[in-house]
Amino acid sequence: MFGWVAGFFTYETTKSVVVKSWSVGIINRVAQLLIIIYFVGWVFVHEKAYQVRDTGIESAVMTKVKGFGFFNNNLMDVADYVMPTQGASVFCIITAMVITANQTQRTCPEADKNFNCSTDNDCEKYKSSNLASGKITGKCITEAERCEILGWCPAEDDTQEINPMKEVENFTIFIKNSIRFPLFNVTRGNIGENSYLKCLYNPINNPDCPIFRVADVLKYAGEDFNKISQKGGEIGINIAWMCNLDQDVENCKPKYTFTRLDSAFKNSLATKGYNFRFAKYFKSEDGKDYRTLHKAFAIRFDILVSGNAGKFHLIPTVINVVAACTSVGLATVLCDIILLNFLKGAKQYKAKKFEEVSDSVSRSPSLDLHQGSQMTIKREEKSSDDSGAYSIGHQV
Ligand SMILES: *[C@@H]1O[C@H](CO)[C@@H](O)[C@H](O)[C@H]1NC(C)=O
Repeated sequence: MFGWVAGFFTYETTKSVVVKSWSVGIINRVAQLLIIIYFVGWVFVHEKAYQVRDTGIESAVMTKVKGFGFFNNNLMDVADYVMPTQGASVFCIITAMVITANQTQRTCPEADKNFNCSTDNDCEKYKSSNLASGKITGKCITEAERCEILGWCPAEDDTQEINPMKEVENFTIFIKNSIRFPLFNVTRGNIGENSYLKCLYNPINNPDCPIFRVADVLKYAGEDFNKISQKGGEIGINIAWMCNLDQDVENCKPKYTFTRLDSAFKNSLATKGYNFRFAKYFKSEDGKDYRTLHKAFAIRFDILVSGNAGKFHLIPTVINVVAACTSVGLATVLCDIILLNFLKGAKQYKAKKFEEVSDSVSRSPSLDLHQGSQMTIKREEKSSDDSGAYSIGHQV
């Protein structure tokens, strides 16, 4: 216990030991050089640590789809196949539909095979099911071999074959994106001042064009149009703004990348693609409501905007220069580890590096150097944590 207390109340001070060793000298300089290269090359040039960064990008997206297609011999225009119609950053292009026309409120047999029956008893157990097209009444319609529902009839049969609208691949999506970096009050748009809008985006020949062909978007996302138009899916269009405002602001331009966002479920057996239902309602002359139900398979586009901007600022520059200068000193730690543990004559180095001087030494100068160094040798295995030098274990 006393030993611990005595050990705690000691003071350590550094003493410089000049080691005339080529190997440690070279290691020291190489380590310092690597640290300097890291800071200059990576931290300053690549990561631009001298800049302050604005990551809180503000963004507005407007979209417009154009094109005509044919579905079931009907011509479809934008109002027919884009949902929702507001032209927001998330929209669907309907590629295929199951249409159930002239539905009215009455009772009729369910269409789904999961609700087949031969007696009323079979239907009793489905009475609280959410999965039917209407409310199961509990009666079995024996001619159809299906349970009876109360609801919009006839029930939708979504097992029928549908031919997707092929023309969707030639539709174009126009994206208008305006962003602002509030910290620097810089506003940019994805359409150049003097660009005309008769282009088609191409990552190599026309990377600044804000008009995208659907088939191209799918191709860049690695998807096949014929597959995705059958079952639907979700495609992300990422607009990345990485701006260095130390350069001309005209160089602050967006980069577009494309991904399939629902790819986690692409091969899932339980749920595939993307679909939703909507209905159009009518009134017949005798005042009765009827509707046309649409089950729509759609490609959903999500426009995601991200980005940041950097500009020179004194504070991060000073902080990082100081950090760089301090870090050069890390080379000493490495050299100490090598010097005190792995080099021939490590014991002698250790003896020279850690020296204990007790109170009596300073009080009685009669004690000569010889005795001082004996004391040191006695305790040469001591390792110090405070001085920044580490010696691993006791390699006796
Ligand atoms: C899409 O456009 C190309 C070139 O204009 C045309 O050859 C092709 O038939 C079109 N695709 C469809 C499905 O109409």
